[in-house]
Order: sequence, then structure tokens, then C-alpha cells
Amino acid sequence: MNYFFLNWKMYLDRDQSILLANHLASKDTLPDNTVIFCNDLALSEVKDIIGPERVGTQNVAWVPAGAYTGATSAHMFKQAGATHALVGHSERRHIFNETNIAIRKKMEACVDTALTPVLCIGEKKEEREDNRWKEVLSEQLILALEDLDMKGQIFYVAYEPVWAIGTGVSCTSDMLQEVVDYIKQVLGTINQNAIILYGGSVSSTNIKDFDNVVGVEGVLIGSAGAKVESLDSMLEVLQ
Ligand code: PGA
Repeated sequence: MNYFFLNWKMYLDRDQSILLANHLASKDTLPDNTVIFCNDLALSEVKDIIGPERVGTQNVAWVPAGAYTGATSAHMFKQAGATHALVGHSERRHIFNETNIAIRKKMEACVDTALTPVLCIGEKKEEREDNRWKEVLSEQLILALEDLDMKGQIFYVAYEPVWAIGTGVSCTSDMLQEVVDYIKQVLGTINQNAIILYGGSVSSTNIKDFDNVVGVEGVLIGSAGAKVESLDSMLEVLQ
């Protein structure tokens, strides 16, 4: 498992984030490529604890500065010590009504600021059941990435089916293999190349399964990555 990315969502407050970051920092089994997407207010402290290049934000504004009440720009996150950003997480898409157009602008803002984006894509349950997942994923990928000059920067695509997020139902290896092959095919048609991650109910019981899927290089973990016990079990399994 090359990439071990943790999305702490709004689960942990500043003090809890500091505690968990200290716990992780004390583990010699923590993969090198660990990145924590913590609450913004804890970002600076978590970075000091866990080290540089290992902290990201869960959301960025698409402009560098201006009259945008409540927003924080990629540039501001960079200045605070973030190196990565989640873009288009399904909770942003579906709870906060973020569109593919907004997501594209956020990708551009990340590239302009050299903040490494993790573009999250995924179909809803009914889209999977109606066999429309290819259409949904290709639209999300193309609108976010077509003709976008990544300036040689690496970036990630996290496949996170909405039906697998926080549900305890994860993607099977066979299903994931089919999706990853398809993502690679779509990326090829628009001349993009990304590191592919899987996210959605990753836990100590299934984390190893994703390692066996060709083309998946890491995981983006939500709830199981925000608790000491489940984090410890995952790190043990990865040994
Ligand atoms: P989950 O969330 O691991 O709790 O399903 C994953 C995510 O939303 O990134």
C-alpha cells in the first residue's frame, strides 16, 4: 500500500486532531506516503506533529483572494503548510451542491498554487444499479481534467463510490478492477496520468484486498482513519 490518505472530515476537533496526530507520529509503522486531511483549524499543528508534505485540506476556494465570505484559497492553505487538497469529495458534491464546473475551477486553483489535488469521483447507488457508472465517472473526469495543464505536477484520482462511503459496504476487488481500468482508459483519452486511490468503507478487514487490484496505489480512508483502534488495526494488517 503506497498511499495512506486519511480524511478526517468534521469528525475531530482541534484538540482531538492533535491527539490523534501525536499517536500516529509515534508509530514506526506509518507508511511514508501518509497524508492527513484534517480540520483546517488544526492544520498547522497537525503539520508540525506529522511532518511536512503530509497535511492537506478537505476543500479550497477557486480564487486566490477577494470578496468570498467564509472561503479559504489554495494559496492560503499553502501558506499554512498544506501540500494536498481534496477536490470534489462526494460530500461536497452532494451535501454542498458543488458542481463539476466548480470542481474544475478548484482543480485549476490547486495547479496554479502547486497544491497537489486529490480529485474524488464516484457514482451514486442508483447510477450503479442503472449501469450508468461509466457515464458518470467519465463526465466527472473529463470536466475536471480535459485540457488542464497539470504543469508536470503529480495528482491523484480517488474513486469513491457514493454508495460505499460510510456505509460499511465496500467495492469488491473485481468491481474495482473494472472501474480502475476504465478510469485509466478515460484518462488516456485526455492525456492525463494520475495515481489512483480507492475510498469507501476501507477498514482493517478489507484494506489488503485493494492492494491486489492492479492500478490502485493507495486508499483514502474516512471513519476508520479517525479512530485510534481502527487505525492501529489497519497499520497492523499492512505490516
Ligand atoms: P469512509 O469515507 O471510509 O468513512 O467510507 C471515505 C471518504 O469519504 O473519503
